[in-house]
Amino acid sequence: MSDRKAWVKPTITPHRTGLSNKFGSNHRQQWAADIEGVPVAELLARHGSPLFVISERVLRDNARRLRRAFSTRYPRVRFAWSYKTNYLGAVCAVMHQEGAWAEVVSEFEYRKARALGVPGERIVFNGPCKSRGALETAVAEGALVQIDHLDELYALEDVARTTGRSIPVALRLNFDTGYTETWSRFGFNLESGQALDAVRRIAANARLRLVGLHSHLGTFILDTRAYVAQINTLYGFMEAIEAETGCLIEYLDIGGGFASQNALQGIYLPPEQAAPSPEQYADAICTALLAAGQTRLRAGKPLPVLVLETGRAVVDSAEMLVTRVVANKRLPDGRRGVVLDGGINLLFTALWYNHAVMPTRPLEGLAEETVLYGPLCMNIDVMRQSVMLPQLDVGDSLVFSHVGAYNNTQWMQFITLRPAVVMISESGAVDVVREAETLETVTSPENLPERLMELFPGGLPD
Ligand SMILES: Cc1ncc(COP(=O)(O)O)c(C=O)c1O
Repeated sequence: MSDRKAWVKPTITPHRTGLSNKFGSNHRQQWAADIEGVPVAELLARHGSPLFVISERVLRDNARRLRRAFSTRYPRVRFAWSYKTNYLGAVCAVMHQEGAWAEVVSEFEYRKARALGVPGERIVFNGPCKSRGALETAVAEGALVQIDHLDELYALEDVARTTGRSIPVALRLNFDTGYTETWSRFGFNLESGQALDAVRRIAANARLRLVGLHSHLGTFILDTRAYVAQINTLYGFMEAIEAETGCLIEYLDIGGGFASQNALQGIYLPPEQAAPSPEQYADAICTALLAAGQTRLRAGKPLPVLVLETGRAVVDSAEMLVTRVVANKRLPDGRRGVVLDGGINLLFTALWYNHAVMPTRPLEGLAEETVLYGPLCMNIDVMRQSVMLPQLDVGDSLVFSHVGAYNNTQWMQFITLRPAVVMISESGAVDVVREAETLETVTSPENLPERLMELFPGGLPD
């Protein structure tokens, strides 16, 4: 190969006022030709583009690091995998192999967990919309129902009465920590007395046994003090209701919400500085739990099990989306636009993250402010509003990283078909864990009434 540099078409970058640095944003030229040792070109040639790629190694490492962070600081910890964060069977299976229960928020997710082989007694059933049938199944199979509202409590009372079963239950609570916006639409409110009323009603029912308290503060919570406030509030409530009703709370479920290493739009600091590490979350939470638990220990009562439903912090960095450049354009305001073959219908999280974007070869030339568009014929289809990149050629590939959370569940079949998802094992084997959609995937649930089968009854239109 010659050492001569390739000629690159010169570009003029206009200076813009209002920028903190008139020489433009800093950018580091990084590239990677492979993922987990497998060449990206080979992955695309085999499985098509765009393509989701999951690293099993990173997924397991993240799950183990989180477990280690908590179990070395608190003696009783349980993880329940948040299905809605990513319910691809292969992802759930890895999480279960790593010792997690399933945390589901719908009948569909419940059935998915059961179909994968998770026993009912290892399922935490959350969510505001559990049908009567779903509650009956969950109770019969020994799942832990975390009650969201009074109508669900009435339904469970009725299930207990009609089946003659004794049912262990938990309550989802909401309250103000002072650090996060209160998600008051889920669970029973503490400050208004609604939660205490529900506890008293459960205590009065001989067939219901309150064994757990649950709260989920929100998501991408950057301030660990929110969790300390959560623990202290849950603990105070637990002690008060145990004293009043004689119940014994076996576990405190603090939900999910830890931030991943993704760049949230509008946050100035890079993710590695903005987001606490698993150890920092664990330190804050377990210190608060142990401090609150001292009087309990002295009274000879067991410490409650800590349940975590961590989603995005575990799976986000384990998955990437590989896309290809379809076209280059020059926008009227001077910026470069690049059209990619993967769009926002696949990468829902591009709406609030600045996903890291990496080329798969070293790029020549000056980096320029670039807008990355997806392939949809829709104005909202923007994968990155602004990223510094040198010239890309049609056919070049770009890798979006940290896409494992909330994309394979919230993606949409819209205008284009959804692509394949592959998982690379720790030994480098590539398995297709979700096939690329075909026309039949979309049309097979449709029915065409017979009267509509002939398209042009009057002959072909002019
Ligand atoms: C009840 C519950 N648990 C767990 C999670 C997972 O949260 P995260 O992905 O932020 O960790 C969610 C997400 O919204 C949730 O609603």
